[in-house]
Amino acid sequence: MAEFPQRVFSGMQPTSTLHLGNYLGALTNWVAMQESYDCVYCVVDMHAITVWQDPAELTRAIREVTAAYLAAGVDPKKSIIFNQSQVAQHAELAWVFNCVARLGWLNRMTQFKEKAGKDRENASVGLYAYPNLMAADILLYKATHVPVGEDQKQHLELARDIAQKFNNDFAEQIAARGLGTGELGFFPQPEPMIQGPAPRVMSLRDGTKKMSKSDASDYSRINLTDDAETIAQKVRKAKTDPEALPSEEKGLEGRPEAENLVGIYAGLSGESRAQVLGQFGGGQFSAFKAALVDLAVAKLAPIAGEMRRLLADPSHIDGILGQGAERAAEIAAPIMRDVKDVVGFVRAR
Ligand code: AMP
Ligand code: TRP
Repeated sequence: MAEFPQRVFSGMQPTSTLHLGNYLGALTNWVAMQESYDCVYCVVDMHAITVWQDPAELTRAIREVTAAYLAAGVDPKKSIIFNQSQVAQHAELAWVFNCVARLGWLNRMTQFKEKAGKDRENASVGLYAYPNLMAADILLYKATHVPVGEDQKQHLELARDIAQKFNNDFAEQIAARGLGTGELGFFPQPEPMIQGPAPRVMSLRDGTKKMSKSDASDYSRINLTDDAETIAQKVRKAKTDPEALPSEEKGLEGRPEAENLVGIYAGLSGESRAQVLGQFGGGQFSAFKAALVDLAVAKLAPIAGEMRRLLADPSHIDGILGQGAERAAEIAAPIMRDVKDVVGFVRAR
């Protein structure tokens, strides 16, 4: 049976400093995947401007997110790293997808409802169409695997629906031009990869809320730029409950703060939750927290240090993004040309 060659695509928005949730929920998986896949990692600056960004701050944030990718271990020799706006085909394919996706599909997107809030009339059109651009990001490379956090699952399902509808709507042209992969059509159905021991890292202040850049309290999250002292302080102050740690995972039920800290420990140490509980279960919470402080500082402070070093030389970062964009465009350009032919656009040959 025909199969699409495997390719990984993922991206993050340069809207503010990355935090532990981004690191454990996404970046550590990205780093692991570069060993066995052909990977494309994007700084999605065009997604960022769906809500207002101060231009100077956006420039800074694009470089900072790139530095976070690199410091976390994404390697430009193994993977393609670039910022979205440098590869024009993202916008081109997004327009075609604006015309494939249906209003009803976008109306169901929960992230739009959350982000637009009560003042929906005042949200940008870009914020509404954002999932179409995300589908374009992935399908422009015919990516088959997309490592993301749980919150992106609905957007991935939409990308699959768009791929399917494009394949159906243009089935005749795809077949006539021999552009399909066997019976599978032109675009693959990208698979979300939601994995790791900490796919959903919660706030350090409230174990029922996701760790998020938008939380008003800086103590709710560990930023990847935090220094050792700040990391230690935040872990020490993290909310807990008065019970000792359980020895088995089911003992974490109904204890969101304990569950979150165990998940964070597992994510940082590369162990399973069961292993962590095997080591600390039955013991005092304070002993576990002390170990977590040491682990978090040992793992995260060097990342912050490396980011500072990289950010001291913005032209080096810009060079990496420029080279990555060239490599990305080499994959994207022929796919976009095929899309144009399938849709029926005329181009010089
Ligand atoms: P965002 O910062 O929301 O643009 O997310 C960038 C990436 O990090 C996406 O793959 C998210 O799913 C992931 N992510 C963000 N926050 C968390 C979290 N608290 N736990 C796990 N993954 C997260
Ligand atoms: N929407 C994603 C987020 O907010 C970012 C993103 C944009 C993305 N394009 C993507 C993630 C393509 C994976 C694949 O986190």
